[in-house]
Amino acid sequence: MSDKDLIESGDMKIGWVRSHMPVLSIIRENFEREQPLKGHKIAMALHVEAKTAALVEALAIGGAEVTITGCNPLSTQDDVSAALNTRDNINCYAKYDCCSDEYYEAIDKVLDMKPDITIDDGADLIFKLHTERTDLLSDIFGGCEETTTGIHRLKAMEKDGALKMPVVAVNDAMTKFLFDNRYGTGQSSWDGIMRTTNLLVAGKTVVIGGYGWCGKGVSLRASGLGADVIVTEIDPIRALEARMDGHRVMSMAEAAKYGDIFVTTTGNVDILSKKHFEVMKDGAILANSGHFNVEINLEELTAMASSVRTVRKNIKEYNVAGKRINVLADGRLVNLAAGDGHPAEVMDMSFANQALCVKYIAETKLENGVHPVPHDLDMYVAELKLKSMGIEIDKLEPHQTEYMEGWDCGT
Ligand code: NAI
Repeated sequence: MSDKDLIESGDMKIGWVRSHMPVLSIIRENFEREQPLKGHKIAMALHVEAKTAALVEALAIGGAEVTITGCNPLSTQDDVSAALNTRDNINCYAKYDCCSDEYYEAIDKVLDMKPDITIDDGADLIFKLHTERTDLLSDIFGGCEETTTGIHRLKAMEKDGALKMPVVAVNDAMTKFLFDNRYGTGQSSWDGIMRTTNLLVAGKTVVIGGYGWCGKGVSLRASGLGADVIVTEIDPIRALEARMDGHRVMSMAEAAKYGDIFVTTTGNVDILSKKHFEVMKDGAILANSGHFNVEINLEELTAMASSVRTVRKNIKEYNVAGKRINVLADGRLVNLAAGDGHPAEVMDMSFANQALCVKYIAETKLENGVHPVPHDLDMYVAELKLKSMGIEIDKLEPHQTEYMEGWDCGT
């Protein structure tokens, strides 16, 4: 594709999602009028696709200078990256399928602008700031973190006294994880798997590793598509929830024998490893929706395989003792590496939180450590979203408030 065609294609993608992100659009209009980010420099490492571009535009329109790179080498869309580079006050360094050196060079380039606010999905920028670029820490007002795995990393740093900047845990806003992680990952993981394999889900046995917010969504949609769902867990409460939601629950050692399609959503390592590959059926399909490509142990699978070949775009077939085991998108998060990520309406809420949290960081002197998204901001996003959907809800009447808050009425 020529540069002109790339830009045109990126512009079209961004225009489409923008028109399906009403909450972010309202925030963008307010930002344009109020210029709350004037003079701020924002460095970002997020999946560079169209919804992210809509967020980047809103921040730049709010007065900020923005640099961005990817947070995963396979999730970048080069047309979106090219379109972003035509905008004022935005520089994008992300490139699809770049090698590891290029990936980390781009993270350095993003930080070269000497940001005062960061936005991460997986804490790559913050990690770099605390290791090789510590000279930049003194300029930082704070950062935002988008995903569960990033928050785990940051809380571990905070516990060890190693976190030297304030970070807002955007993932933990209710208007983020209850919708993005559950309904977003639920739909987009199946979108990625179905468009990549072009196979039927109905009638298949699907094994979901982990029944957190992502696992719940992926299981829910697998059931809806007609699959027989098996869940694996390590947490007894979540295992019970999965059972009472109607799924079979068992260990992965057992489930590995039955699965036609496996989807990992734990944020942990080695959910699928040698002992599981050994007992899998011929033709098993493995996909990961957790943040890092560590949930399927590809080193062990490669060592076991007599041959590996690409059988279709984004599908590698490993020949293990005459059995074919198919891995989607090299075990990277399947909804982004083999799809377009979450639906725009869901990212509308996640990125509304991001934009409002950036403003909050710019206006508030926060202590070093991990901070929650302020409750009123979370509620504001929910209210705007409901309004955009044309939904009105009831309000408490004064006597109802009195009843709920009192202890002396009612029998
Ligand atoms: P969560 O903490 O709600 O759920 C993770 C679940 O995995 C927990 O119930 C935990 O008990 C379980 N688990 C941990 N180790 C396990 C093991 N060895 N076997 C079975 N289960 C195990 O986290 P959430 O929000 O569901 O996120 C999961 C992962 O997905 C994270 O890496 C997160 O960053 C990522 N994520 C990916 C998205 C995407 O677009 N693909 C979107 C949002 C989050």
